[in-house]
Formats: sequence, C-alpha cells, structure tokens
Amino acid sequence: MAAPLPPNATIGIVGGGQLGRMSAMAAARLGYRCHILTPEEDSPASQVSARTFLGDYEDQALLRAFAESVDVVTFEFENVSAEGLDLLQSIRPVRPSPNVLRISQDRVVEKTFLNDAGVATASWLEIKSRAALHAAVARVGLPGLLKTTRGGYDGKGQAMLRSVCDLNDMWEEMAPKPLILEALVKFEREISVIVARGLDGRAVAFDPVENRHRDGILDLTLAPAPITPETAANATRVALKVADALDLVGVLAVEMFVLADGGVLVNEIAPRPHNSGHWTIDACPASQFEMHIRAVAGLPLPPAVRHSDAVMKNLVGPEEVAQWPAILGTPGLVPHLYGKAEARPGRKMGHVTTLYPLGTLSVD
Ligand SMILES: Nc1ncnc2c1ncn2[C@@H]1O[C@H](COP(=O)(O)OP(=O)(O)O)[C@@H](O)[C@H]1O
Ligand SMILES: [Mg+2]
Repeated sequence: MAAPLPPNATIGIVGGGQLGRMSAMAAARLGYRCHILTPEEDSPASQVSARTFLGDYEDQALLRAFAESVDVVTFEFENVSAEGLDLLQSIRPVRPSPNVLRISQDRVVEKTFLNDAGVATASWLEIKSRAALHAAVARVGLPGLLKTTRGGYDGKGQAMLRSVCDLNDMWEEMAPKPLILEALVKFEREISVIVARGLDGRAVAFDPVENRHRDGILDLTLAPAPITPETAANATRVALKVADALDLVGVLAVEMFVLADGGVLVNEIAPRPHNSGHWTIDACPASQFEMHIRAVAGLPLPPAVRHSDAVMKNLVGPEEVAQWPAILGTPGLVPHLYGKAEARPGRKMGHVTTLYPLGTLSVD
C-alpha cells in the first residue's frame, strides 16, 4: 500500500463548489494544502485554497499542469469527463478512481452495477427511442419517473410520467438522450448513508440520516434517521457493500428509499462528500470531509461516530440566505456560508446545523 501523504503535501480537487471548499478546509486542518481545478472564477473552493487552475475541464494542458502541481487528485463534482480524470491519473493517483466516477455519472451504468452487486433498486429500463418509451411504460407501468441518464442533479433532468398522453412530449423535451424510466417508489422516508473507505480497504459508515426535499432540492437532513435499528443496520450493510464493490477510496453517499416493510432500495450513489453529510462537520469528531481527505491521503480512518444528534437545514436561493442575520443572532445554530457572490433561485448558498444531545432528536 502507498505511504500516507506527509504533512504539507498538496491535494488536487477537481471542482470548485462548496464540497471542494469544505474538503479543503478539512485538508488544511490536517496540514495539507489544496489546488483547485475549476472553470469558475473566485469559486467557493478557490477562496480557501492555495492555488486555482482556472479553465475548462477538457483543457488537456491545464489538466496536466494541475496534476503535476499536486501529490494526489480527488473530485468534488461528478459532471466532469472520466477521460479527463484518466489523463490526471496518468500523472498522479486519482482517488476515487475514474472508473468509480464512470459508474456514478450514468444512471444506467450505476443501476446495472448495483443490481449486479445484488443491491435492489426501483425497477428501471433504459429508453433509447420513442418506441422504447411506449414499450417500457407498458412494462414498468405508471406513474413513473423519466430521467436523463447523465448530468441530472437537484431533481433537474427528470419528469413525472402520469399518463400515456405525456409520452411523446416528454420524449421530445428531455435531453440529453438516452433516458431511463423508473417505477415510482412509494417510500416511507428517504435516507442516506455516508461511507468512507481507506486505501487499505477498511470502511466506516455514519449512521443513516433522513433527507427531506423541497422542489427537488435537499432541504433538511435529520441525524439520525428515525428508523428501526434493523432498517438502520440493513441500510448500513448495503452502503458498505456498495463501497466494497466499487473498491472505493474516499467517501461515498448512498441514497435510499425506506419501504413500508422496512426494506430499502438504493436510489443513487455519489462517490464524494454529500449534502446529506454536512451535519457531520458539527456533530462528529471527524466529519465526512475529514474522512474523505484522510482516505484520499492514505491516512487511517477514525470511527464514524457522532457526539450529538443534529438537524441540517440548507440555505437555498435569495429568500433563505436573507435569513442569515437572524441565523447569526440565534443561539444554538451553527452557520455555514459558501462564499457565493450571487444568490440565484435554487442555488445552495450555505447551511445551518442545530445540535441536540446524543439520543434526544425526536421527529415525526
Ligand atoms: N424512482 C423513484 N421513486 C420515487 N421518488 C423518486 C424516484 N427517483 C427519484 N425520486 C425523488 O426525486 C428525488 C431526486 O431524484 P434523484 O434520482 O436522487 O436525482 P438527483 O440527481 O436530482 O438527486 C429523490 O430524492 C426522490 O425524492
Ligand atoms: Mg439524489
């Protein structure tokens, strides 16, 4: 196994968003510095990092210069080209590997991988043509969710199909093709499990949390999720199994649906720190970001324990970030802002964590 990265080494992060920012802040605490590759000027991650390589993710000369300036590379953003990561990997180790990104960035590849690994998902079919969409609806039934296979996030790139009348319009509207049709799951709750897995293959998992969305965007995370110990153990087992099957080095979020019988279906996976793990910064001795940096740097992983229960509230768009002064004036709230200059609707501007003594969070 490769030696751990020594203090003062440099970690390259592909992507300049808030996940990169909070990863870079965790890296700084462990004595590392970060270089950021992003097309965005003054990105949230750049503001807290030593150096930024500004430009297109497809710019090969830029990718080379970035890789040569660091000791190891990771990514915080999934919609980069896996071929770009391949180029980086020819120069420095990339963790998680580009193949893990390949799996997670295409819903068909992802669901095929999960099902092959024995992990249950909603029923789904790949849709390559209008005729295939009609045939798939006949098999999967309605209502269903039609999604793009690539590039979707925060509920973008998906549409609910309620009637066969919608099919032709939907097929025209949604891009890029191909699409995927998923059966609509009647879930009790949505949960996620964040797993960290080190270079030595040892993995740890934070307790499952519940995620509540608004307009397709994560609004609240409740830690821990109000689920039975059996469901929690099952969800954790599934998440660890996915991390092993991927041979992951880094952090992985596994989003799941909890069914009425307590069973779980995996919705999607993200091989990076995840919005539903932000509460770990304030409620855990080692956050998901520290876990990620430790894994990428080849350091040992501490237990994924929490000292407090927590509720994380996202601050989305101009209306919610307008509450910032009130949040700062409210005792017991832990505020986080991401340094984004412009508060566009639907944009994640920051989050707030409320802590509760361990074992006392009660929700309906
Ligand atoms: N098959 C499904 N059945 C029921 N709800 C779903 C299904 N797929 C997605 N959703 C809902 O839509 C949300 C966003 O879908 P997801 O596939 O996670 O895309 P995104 O990449 O936008 O997070 C999910 O968190 C869930 O609330
Ligand atoms: Mg999702």
